[in-house]
Amino acid sequence: MKASDQPRTYRVKSFGCQMNVYDGERMAELLDARGIAPAAEGEEADLVVLNTCHIREKAAEKVYSDIGRITKAGRAAGKRPLIAVAGCVAQAEGEEIMARSPAVSMVVGPQAYHRLPDMLDRAVAGERATDTDMPAIAKFAALPDRRRVAPTAFLTVQEGCDKFCTYCVVPYTRGAEISRPFNDLVDEAKRLVEAGAKEVTLLGQNVSAWSGEDSRGRVQGLDGLIRELARIPEVQRIRYTTSHPADMDEGLVAAHGEVEKLMPFLHLPVQSGSDRVLRAMNRSHTADSYLRLLERFREARPDIALSGDFIVGFPGETEAEFEETLALVDSVGYAQAFSFKYSPRPGTPAATMEGQVAPEVMDERLQRLQAALNRDQLAFNRASVGRTCQVLVERRGKHPGQWLGKSPWLQSVWFSEKGGSHCAIGDMVTVRLLEGGPNSMRGQVIGGK
Ligand code: 5AD
Ligand code: SF4
Repeated sequence: MKASDQPRTYRVKSFGCQMNVYDGERMAELLDARGIAPAAEGEEADLVVLNTCHIREKAAEKVYSDIGRITKAGRAAGKRPLIAVAGCVAQAEGEEIMARSPAVSMVVGPQAYHRLPDMLDRAVAGERATDTDMPAIAKFAALPDRRRVAPTAFLTVQEGCDKFCTYCVVPYTRGAEISRPFNDLVDEAKRLVEAGAKEVTLLGQNVSAWSGEDSRGRVQGLDGLIRELARIPEVQRIRYTTSHPADMDEGLVAAHGEVEKLMPFLHLPVQSGSDRVLRAMNRSHTADSYLRLLERFREARPDIALSGDFIVGFPGETEAEFEETLALVDSVGYAQAFSFKYSPRPGTPAATMEGQVAPEVMDERLQRLQAALNRDQLAFNRASVGRTCQVLVERRGKHPGQWLGKSPWLQSVWFSEKGGSHCAIGDMVTVRLLEGGPNSMRGQVIGGK
C-alpha cells in the first residue's frame, strides 16, 4: 500500500447489537483524542471504520459490498479513504478480509480496538495490520475518558459468553466471559453522568453473569452493582441487557422490587417454547422453568414489561414444536420482542445438524410468530393508556414542538410541548399516556422535570 495523508475526518458505522454501538462510541472517542473529527453529514470521510456484526446471515457479504461502496464514493470525491474493519466479522474472518480486499488497511477485533491509533499510524505509513488478540480488560484501561454523551448511555460491564448455545457465534467472536472491575464501572458511570447521561444501560453478552469485588472486598453480583450505581445521585435510570435465564439470581429479582431507579423492564431471551429444541440449542432451561422465572420477576415488580428473543426454524424444528413457541408467547404477553429466522453460522454445532428447515417454512413461521408478538405489543401499549409516568426526552419529533422519549417500560412516547413550557433533550417530564399504537404511545405533559 502507498502511504496516505493523516486523516482529518472519520466515520464509524456500527451494525448489530448495543455492545457494538458502545464499542463504536469508544472508537470514535479514540479518534477524537487523536484530533480527527467526525465527518460532516453527507461528506466522504478520510477514515471509515466498519464496526461489523456476525450474528446472522450475509454478514461478510455486506462488509465487502460496504467496502466497495466506500471506495467508490471516496474516489468520486477525489479521496482514497483509509478503511478499518472492526467488530465480530473482523474477529471471525479478518485474514480473509485482508486477502480479498486490498482497500482495507486495518482489521481490528472487538477486544483489540484500543490499539486502533497505533494501527492507524502504520496504515498512514502504508502498512496493513490485523489485530484480533483478546486481552479484554487491557482494552478498557487504555481508552480515553468519556466525552459528551446522549441522555441514554451504554456501559459495557461484561463481555463474552461461556454458554455455547449451539446456534451462536458469540463465544467465538467475543471470547470467554469477563467481568470488568466494580470500581472501574462506578467511575465510568460517574463520568457518563458528568458528560450528560441520565440513564445508564449496563451491557453484556451475558450481563447477569457479571460479578466483582466491591471497594470493601465483598463479592457482588449484578444486583450489587446496580444498587451501588443507584447511589450516584445523577444516575436517574438504570437498565441492563442481555440476560440468560440460567444466571438470574434471587438478588436480581429482589432488586427489581427494591431499587426505584432500576426500570421495570426485562429482556430475557427464550429462543423457543419447545423443550426438545431448547435441549438441542444447549439452552439449560425449559419452557416451564423460564415461565416460572418470569413469574418471580412479576411478583417482585408487578408492572414489569417483558421482552425476549426468538429463533424460528432451528434444525429439526417441527410444526408442533413451533406451535409450542406460539403457546409460550400467548402465556407471557410480551411488551416487545425480537424474532429471527435461524441462520447457520460457520463453525457452530447447529450449522451441521440434520433437518435444516426449508426457507419457505421459516418465512411462514416467522410471519405467524411476528403477528402474535405484534398483537401483544399493541395490547401492552393499549393497556398503558391512562398511566402517568416519567419520560426521558431523547430527541425532537417530526413537527415543531414535538418531542420523543422513553417510558419506564421502554415504550417510545411522543408528546407536544404545552403552551409556554419548553422542553430539552435530557429532560425528565411527567406524561400521561393517552393513546397506544403498535410501535409508540402518544402522551401529554402534565409536569416538569
Ligand atoms: N440465527 C438466528 N438468530 C440468532 N441469534 C443468535 N444466533 C442466531 C442464529 N445463528 C439471535 C438470538 C439471540 C439474538 C441476539 O440473536 O435470538 O438472542
Ligand atoms: Fe453481532 Fe453478536 Fe458481535 Fe453483537 S456480539 S456484534 S450481536 S455477533
